[in-house]
Amino acid sequence: MNTVTFFTSVQDQLEFIEGRIREQAGDEHHPDLHSALDHLLAAGGKRIRPTLGLLVGNMLGAPEEKLITLGAAVELLHTATLVHDDLIDGSLLRRGMPTLNARWSPAATVLTGDFLFARAAKLAAETDYLPLMKLFADTLATIVSGELTQLFSARGMINRQNYYQRIYAKTASLFEMSALAASMIATEDGDIRDSMKAFGYEVGMAFQIMDDILDFTGDQSAVGKPIGSDLLNGLVTLPTIYYAEANPRDEDITSLPDGGWKDTERVQRLVDAIRQSSAIEQAMDEARQAVCRALSALEESPISPERDALENLANFIVDRKV
Ligand code: IPE
Ligand code: IPE
Ligand code: MG
Ligand code: MG
Repeated sequence: MNTVTFFTSVQDQLEFIEGRIREQAGDEHHPDLHSALDHLLAAGGKRIRPTLGLLVGNMLGAPEEKLITLGAAVELLHTATLVHDDLIDGSLLRRGMPTLNARWSPAATVLTGDFLFARAAKLAAETDYLPLMKLFADTLATIVSGELTQLFSARGMINRQNYYQRIYAKTASLFEMSALAASMIATEDGDIRDSMKAFGYEVGMAFQIMDDILDFTGDQSAVGKPIGSDLLNGLVTLPTIYYAEANPRDEDITSLPDGGWKDTERVQRLVDAIRQSSAIEQAMDEARQAVCRALSALEESPISPERDALENLANFIVDRKV
């Protein structure tokens, strides 16, 4: 396993980002929004999206102030999507802590998520750069549309093509945005922007594939959220797609459309079978290929400690247990 060192050079900037996020529940707002934001921040999180933006921006010489504002906007947008996602999924654990929906009503949870979206948008506006605000708004629309697609395709067998579209929308789009926006602050050069965008895209795709694998193979105390829940929630991801391709006559698969989803024992048996199968390794291979493409997108970048850190970040995606 590679040593994880990519965070070190941006540690101070990440703390500034944390501070910018914390400021967002000002005194004029409902006191519960304060405690919700404190709870969400205290729970931690990998902060991988702002780290990606900081490293890209630092490598290309972007102004630090704008990078920090951008990083805060991106992380807060991510946090807002998690608040709504956990409510939608009925998930009670996140970052090793109870989710907001575990403690509050759905109404209060939705409204808190909305508040966080609004504050993230304000932060994006504070970069004072219109193209970035447009990109931010478009990315949010893409994420929401991806979550809706996922909701409507629940309990349906999907193919790999649908899967890629869905994970691009719900996850990779934000990684792509973080890397692209940081490069937009730094340079007008279209080729550089394109390669940073490609890097963010590939890393984001690998990230969601790994998240979907960890839902089968992860250790709940390390991952900090419930494991094995995707399939039980009717969510078909890459390991299941590979398993279904290799075992088309498996009764636990073929019975799914005819009420099999309601049979929890059957679905649990399927989860266990997928865990033991080569589908996991096939999905891993795909995540590794995306990381390789990410590394090629960096080839023209200036040789620098930031570039090394970006390579380290890309490799971490497939080595991670958290
Ligand atoms: C979780 O993202 C949601 C996905 C897109 C898979 P992270 O795994 O980055 O969550 P935190 O921020 O570290 O908790
Ligand atoms: C979350 O995807 C994506 C968004 C928050 C938009 P998942 O549903 O896979 O994330 P986890 O596994 O709950 O973190
Ligand atoms: Mg979820
Ligand atoms: Mg998941």
